[in-house]
Amino acid sequence: MEILRTVESVREWVRRQRAQGRAIHFVPTMGYFHEGHLSLMRRAKADGGAVIVSIFVNPLQFGPHEDYARYPRDFERDRQMAESVGVDAIFYPEVAEMYPEGFQTEVRVKELSKPLCGKSRPGHFEGVATVVLKLFNIVTPDRAYFGMKDYQQLRIIQQLVRDMNLPVEIVPCPIVREPDGLAMSSRNVYLSPEERAAATVLYRSLQWAQEQVAAGERNAHALREGVYQRIAAEPLARIDYVEVVDAETLQPVERIERPTLIAVAAFFGTARLIDNTLVSP
Ligand code: PAJ
Repeated sequence: MEILRTVESVREWVRRQRAQGRAIHFVPTMGYFHEGHLSLMRRAKADGGAVIVSIFVNPLQFGPHEDYARYPRDFERDRQMAESVGVDAIFYPEVAEMYPEGFQTEVRVKELSKPLCGKSRPGHFEGVATVVLKLFNIVTPDRAYFGMKDYQQLRIIQQLVRDMNLPVEIVPCPIVREPDGLAMSSRNVYLSPEERAAATVLYRSLQWAQEQVAAGERNAHALREGVYQRIAAEPLARIDYVEVVDAETLQPVERIERPTLIAVAAFFGTARLIDNTLVSP
């Protein structure tokens, strides 16, 4: 497995792979790997081709009062985990390699960035879209793998690819959960044991909603209220939002008539966790 620290070394590696007739399969990450990240890498590997993973804690997508400085980092651990699933190369740039002095361009996917996390994290998705477009231009992948855990991010990248005619196929991958249902996240390390136990309320509430829809509930307001009340009943949870939205446009719906996303965000202590589930009539 090769460790690449510069844009130029990635371009050279990609040229070598293509010369051998291999497709380029790309998994962008911020590191501190868990099974969610590894599931993307395994899928990229299973699809054939050369697998390259980026590890870059992107300062552009963190707000001034967010956790950029304390975001967990452990390159040596990540290196070993990536190696164990057969990753071919890691792109691990310095901030100055991605954002040299004088950097000033930003990309905005206008409508999809407004609702849900866009409301409470102004500028976040501009930071995501900008770094992902840069990474795509550096790596020039044939396929790129994104987790449905960050569903809004996935939709924004799909729209970016379509709007900018990027020659990459986006592959959505299912949410990987802990045995008790908590969605895996690098940010779960922020949780105290009490908060960690309380955080399972997110998945339990979404499961309740799933069951309601399976039993015939079509009223989005009733689903939203039910999920909201369940999370609010947990004293250690502070709700940011609970929304029932169209899975494509991310705009609120009144009835479950098409694929619909139920999305939640809540603080447990200082950790802001998100989770979601797709429901269909
Ligand atoms: P990060 O949070 O490290 O996530 C990297 C990828 O792993 C994303 O596609 C995310 O959706 C996926 N992922 C995270 N937890 C998952 C889980 N429990 N199950 C399935 N997939 C999961 O998302 C980012 O980094 C950044 O915003 C990035 C796209 C790299 C741009 O900086």
